Amino acid sequence: MLLGTQRVNEQGHLEVGGCDTLALAQEFGTPLYIMDEALVRESCRRFVKVFTERYSGEVEVSYAGKAFLTMAMAKLVDQEGLALDVASGGELYTALKAGFPAEKILYHGNFKSSEELELGVEVGVGRFVVDNPYELQRLAELAAARGKRQAILLRVTPGIDPHTHAKISTGQEDSKFGISVASGLALQTVKEALALPSIDFKGIHCHIGSQLLDSHTHEDAAEIMVGFIAAIREATGFVCSELDIGGGLGVRYLPSHNPPSYEEFADSVVGAVVGALKQHDLPLPRLMLEPGRALVAEAGTTLYTVGPIKTIELAERTKTFVSVDGGLSDNPRPVMYGAEYSVLVAGRAEQAKDKTVTVSGKHCETDLLFSEIGLGEVHSGDILAVQTTGAYNFGMASNYNRFRRPAVVFVQNGQADLVWERESYDDLLRQERLPQRFLEG
Ligand code: LLP
Repeated sequence: MLLGTQRVNEQGHLEVGGCDTLALAQEFGTPLYIMDEALVRESCRRFVKVFTERYSGEVEVSYAGKAFLTMAMAKLVDQEGLALDVASGGELYTALKAGFPAEKILYHGNFKSSEELELGVEVGVGRFVVDNPYELQRLAELAAARGKRQAILLRVTPGIDPHTHAKISTGQEDSKFGISVASGLALQTVKEALALPSIDFKGIHCHIGSQLLDSHTHEDAAEIMVGFIAAIREATGFVCSELDIGGGLGVRYLPSHNPPSYEEFADSVVGAVVGALKQHDLPLPRLMLEPGRALVAEAGTTLYTVGPIKTIELAERTKTFVSVDGGLSDNPRPVMYGAEYSVLVAGRAEQAKDKTVTVSGKHCETDLLFSEIGLGEVHSGDILAVQTTGAYNFGMASNYNRFRRPAVVFVQNGQADLVWERESYDDLLRQERLPQRFLEG
């Protein structure tokens, strides 16, 4: 499986963005996150295009920054004309520092602290996506105190259970996110929002889950959401001008994964939204989407250096552990969600994957990254390339065992630009404070 600009060059090495991955490993060290810039840009453009071509109302695509965010990424998103979804004060701050226009930011989160709410109101973020009645009241007070009227969407739970990993399902009735439509609480909160002079209620939002490999759940969600817009009109006379369907479109981690294409996904979502709007005789709201993974996952490749290889003779088989110089701290997804990935030996990218190995990380933990995968011939010192690591890898990286988070490079047209420098040991000590009494005696 070759993704985006990946190809195998004359030496049999994996290349991304016109850069030989072995040369990148040499120049920047490993572990290394590589982002295929051309693929990210093309994905942003195509995602916007497929929706604007199909929907005759206004479309706004926000990139979900939680999937992968650096200042360079925020700039890229702005250059490609997308809006940005942020989920914390830190993501908001990063975007603002990159010069991302505040009015094109949607601010998410189920518990925004006072500091975060204040920052958002101060800088003028375009939309707060309000998660609960408590946040609504606090936001209203903060905005009122500043003489501002804050535009919001309300996050609701449509009450659907998508077929994905339980840890990334968020649209079901018992989700920690949003306000339940079925219980009537969502309607009550809408009424409260409409009565608050410092709140400009625009519409409703949902996000049902992530890595969804078919569009049925999005279709069901669209129908429930439009039905709720109709219920709001009936109860209050107010017609929502915005409908946000969230993110969730899945990607290919393995060649056997077959997510809907952007075109198929847009056909389903737009078809369901427009059909339901007609049924309820509602005008076209601004249709909003928040893809994260679908825009960046396949553009990411992680390089590791192979260290010791252990072969254990068991009664009925031989088990081979191939250790690499990263693991749980740069990619927690296998351990957290049982996520699977495609792996290549970067220097022999086309070799037969006829040997089964288990790739382990180097943490003091059984951080098996890829269990019993076909890899083929592998030696200590080889570079492994793990595909589809562009989403929720760098963003979820930690310093566990005091590991230094790896560098990130954007590659395009044979050029590699560092966008996040590998942490140094001094970076690890930057927050350290030794109280005087520890220094005495
Ligand atoms: N909008 C909202 C409100 C979200 O909560 C999310 C993801 C997205 C959009 C983007 O979803 P996407 O298009 O990327 O599926 N760490 C997990 C994924 C958590 C997703 C959280 N919310 C993983 O590694 O699979």
